Amino acid sequence: MLKKVNDLLQEISNISVKSSEELESFRLKYLSKKGLISDLFDAFRNVPAEDKKEVGQKLNLLKQNAVEKYNFLKSGLLSTEEISEGNDLTRPAFPFSNGSRHPISIVRNEIIDIFSRIGFTVAEGPEIEDDDHVFTKLNFAPEHPARDMQDTFYISRISSEDSSPEDILLRTHTSSVQIRVMQREKPPIRNIFPGRVFRNEAISARAHCIFHQVEGLYIDENVSFADLKQTLRFFATEMFGKETEIRLRPSYFPFTEPSAELDVSCKICGGKGCNVCKHTGWLEILGCGMVHPNVLEACNIDSNKYTGFAFGMGIERIAMLKYQVNDLRLYFENDIRFLDQFKTAF
Ligand code: DAH
Repeated sequence: MLKKVNDLLQEISNISVKSSEELESFRLKYLSKKGLISDLFDAFRNVPAEDKKEVGQKLNLLKQNAVEKYNFLKSGLLSTEEISEGNDLTRPAFPFSNGSRHPISIVRNEIIDIFSRIGFTVAEGPEIEDDDHVFTKLNFAPEHPARDMQDTFYISRISSEDSSPEDILLRTHTSSVQIRVMQREKPPIRNIFPGRVFRNEAISARAHCIFHQVEGLYIDENVSFADLKQTLRFFATEMFGKETEIRLRPSYFPFTEPSAELDVSCKICGGKGCNVCKHTGWLEILGCGMVHPNVLEACNIDSNKYTGFAFGMGIERIAMLKYQVNDLRLYFENDIRFLDQFKTAF
C-alpha cells in the first residue's frame, strides 16, 4: 500500500497536460469518486492498525498534492487558452487612423513656405489689440465704419460714443501687426504675418466671426508697385499653378495708396467662366497696395526715404479655392469626415 501511494505521488508530480480534455482525464483518473485515490481510501480500511498512522499521513498528502496539481494545471491551461482564443498577441492591432493637419494649417504653411522662398520671414502680433494698432495708425478716419460695433468685437471702450486709440478690441485684420513691426524695427522690413482675426458677423456659409489672414509687408528704399506685382505673380503661380494669370483691379484701403485687389484666373474653368468664378473667369484672392505715407510716418519711418508695399489675404478663401470647399463653417466644425480628406505632407 505504502509503495503504491509513493508511486502515485511520483507519477502525479510528473504529469503535464496540453488540453482541457487531458485535464479532465487527470481529474477522472485520480480525483473522481471512482478514481485511484478514492480506491486507496477504500483500501485504507484493511491496512493493519500499526501501519495506519504512516499510511494515513501519506494518503492525505497524496490527495492534497493531487488537488493542488489539478488546480495548478487548470490555471496554466486557462492562460494558454486565453491567448489562443481571445488574446492572440501576434494578432494585428486595432486599426487607428493617423491624424491629419487642418486644411487651414496646411494652406497657412504653404503660404509661409512660398513667401519664405523670396525672403519673407514670419512675425506675429497679439489677437487682443488696441484701436491705435488696428485702426488709428493704419490711417482709418475716426468715423470709419469698420470701427463700428457691428464689425468689431470690443473688449473695453473708453467712451460709448466715440472710439479712442486706447480702446481694447479683438483685431479685425492682421494689418495691425504691420504697425507693431514698423514701430520696433528699422527698414528693410520683409515679413509675413499669419494669424487669427475676429469680426462681428453672422455665421453663414460665406462668413464667420473668426477667420485667418496672412499679411505681407515689404519696406525699403525704392520699393515700387512693380515689385508688388512681381511678388504677387510669384505667389499666385506657386499656389495655383504655373499657368495661372493675375490681374490687379484698383481698390481702396485707408492704409495703402494706391490700393488694388488681386484676381487670379479661375483654375476650375481655366478662365472660360463657371459657377465658382460666377462666370467671370476671375477669382479675387487678396487686397494690396503701396503703404500709405501716413502709415509710415505714424511709425516714425521717413516716407521720403522709404516706400513699401503690403498685402493681406484670407486663408479660408485660398483654402476654399484650392480645395473647392463651398461652406466656411466646415473649417470650424472639426468633423473628422471632413478633416480626414486633407492627408498631405505639409
Ligand atoms: N486688412 C485688409 C482686410 O482685412 C486686407 C488688406 C488689404 C491688407 C490691403 C493689406 C492691404 O495689407 O494692403 O480686408
